[in-house]
Amino acid sequence: MSRINVFDTTLRDGEQSPGVNLNQLEKLEIAKQLERFGVDIMEAGFPASSQGDFEGVRNIARTIKNAAVTGLARAKKSDIDIAWDALKDAAEPSLHIFLATSPIHMTYKLKKTPDQVISTAVDMVSYARRNFPNVEWSAEDASRSDIDYLVKIIEKVIDAGATVINLPDTVGYTTPEEYGYLFRYVRENVRNIDKVVLSAHCHNDLGMAVANTMAAIKNGATQIEGTINGIGERAGNAALEEIAVALNIRADKYPFTTNLVLKEIKRTSDLVSKLTGMAVPGNKAVVGKNAFAHESGIHQDGVLKNAATYEIITPELVGVLSNDLVLGKHSGRHAFKDKVIQLGYQFTDEKITEAFQAFKQLTDRKKEVTDDDLFTILTDIQTDVKDVKKYELESFQVQYGSSNIPTATVALTTPDGEHVEAACTGKGSVEALYNTLEALIEEKIHLTDYRLNSIGSGRDALAQAHIKMTVNDISVSGRGSAQDVLEASAKAFLNAVNRVFIKQHSYQKETANL
Ligand code: KIV
Ligand code: ZN
Repeated sequence: MSRINVFDTTLRDGEQSPGVNLNQLEKLEIAKQLERFGVDIMEAGFPASSQGDFEGVRNIARTIKNAAVTGLARAKKSDIDIAWDALKDAAEPSLHIFLATSPIHMTYKLKKTPDQVISTAVDMVSYARRNFPNVEWSAEDASRSDIDYLVKIIEKVIDAGATVINLPDTVGYTTPEEYGYLFRYVRENVRNIDKVVLSAHCHNDLGMAVANTMAAIKNGATQIEGTINGIGERAGNAALEEIAVALNIRADKYPFTTNLVLKEIKRTSDLVSKLTGMAVPGNKAVVGKNAFAHESGIHQDGVLKNAATYEIITPELVGVLSNDLVLGKHSGRHAFKDKVIQLGYQFTDEKITEAFQAFKQLTDRKKEVTDDDLFTILTDIQTDVKDVKKYELESFQVQYGSSNIPTATVALTTPDGEHVEAACTGKGSVEALYNTLEALIEEKIHLTDYRLNSIGSGRDALAQAHIKMTVNDISVSGRGSAQDVLEASAKAFLNAVNRVFIKQHSYQKETANL
C-alpha cells in the first residue's frame, strides 16, 4: 500500500470562510487537535496577510512538534521573508508559495506573460530554498491551465528546488476524469516529477471536491489537501474526514494508507465547528448528526438484525461514542483531573481549578454531565483570552410574559473597570437583552446573524449561541455556552465585541509572549 501525505489547510483556506475569525488560542487549539488527528503537514495561515496571522502561525510553529507547519506566501520576496520569521522555529519549517498559471489569471490578475510567470516562480522558489528545507509550489488555477505549459513550468520549478508540486482546482471547476487525467499526464510527462511530492487541492463549487481528490490519488497524487468539515471559501474545500474514511472503507479500490487516526475525526470536527461557528449539516457525510441515524422502519429492522445491512461506517470508527454519564455531582477533583487528561486537554493547575468550578456549577443544575458537556466547558476555558481588558458580564435579568413588554436589565464591567448598568425593552427576550448590551457598550454594533443549538439532548442540555455582527464596521463572530439560552446569548454577544475590542486595543501586546 502506498502512503499518502495529508496536508490540512483548515487554518488557512478554511479560515477564509466568510465570518470566521479565530483568535490565537483557538487557532492553537485546532492545531493541537490536528496533530492528534495525525495530519502530516498543517497550513497555519498566511503570515504576510496580517499581524494576527503572523502571530498565529508563529505560535503554532513553536508548539507543534509531530507535524510539519507551513504558511502561505505569494511569489514575492517580502512574503517569503515574513513567512520565514514566522516559521523558522518549527520542527520542520515549510513554505507554500502560489502563483497562477491559467491564461485568465495570468492575463487579467497577474498581467504577466507565461514566460514572466515561469521566471517569477523559479526565482521565488530558489529564493525560498535559501532558508526553507521544504517548499511547496502551487500552480494556482492549475485545472484551467494549459497542460503542456504546466509540464514546462513544473519541470523548471522542480529544478529550482521545489519539494512539493500542488495542482489546485482553485475554482472547483474540474471533474474526476479531467483531474485524474491531469495527474496522470503530469506524472508521465514531467521529466523530474519523481523528485517531488505531487499534491491535489480541490474546491467544492460543483460538489466534486472529494471525488476529484480520490481521482487524483488513483492517478499519481502522493499528497492530498483539504479542511476539516470541508470548510473554506465559497463552497469550501475537500473534506479531509470524508477522504480519510473513503480510503479506509474502500481500500479495495484505493490501496493507500495515511497517518490519520480515524477515531479523532469526531472530536476534530466538533472542535472546528464550535470554534469557527460553522455548523455541520445534519446530513453531512461522516460527521453529520444523522450520519449514523436510521429513520425508516425497514432500515431500523435491518440494522437491528445485522448492522452491516445499512451501515457501511461504524460510529466507533470515527470516534462517535455513546454519550455515557462520565462524571456527576459527587465526582471529586482527582477524578475530574483524570478525565480532563483523558479528553486530551493539557491544563495548568490554575485552569484545572477554574474548570472544576465550572463543572461543579454545572452539576448543581444538570444531573448528567457528558463528554460533550465537558468538551464545551473545557474548550471555552482553554480558548478564553485572559488578563486583558475587556467587557465582563456581572449579572442580568430578563422579564418576559405573553402580555408584558420584554425588559432586560444588565450589569457589566467595562474594560476600564467601571461598573455600568442599564435596562431596555425589546420585542422578545433576546432582543431586549441585546438592546441593553448595545446601550452599555460604546462601540457601533450591528447584529447580522444569531443561531442557537443544544449540546447533546435532554431538557437540561447546555445551550450554545453563535452570532455574527459588525463592531465598528468590522465583521466578527462570537460564541457563548451556558445552561440557559439567554445567558449563552449574552455571552456570545460579549465574546464578539471583546474579539474586536481586544484586537484593537491590547491583544497584540498582551499575547506577544504566548
Ligand atoms: O485554491 C487554491 O488555489 C489555493 C492556493 C493558494 C493554493 O488555495
Ligand atoms: Zn484553495
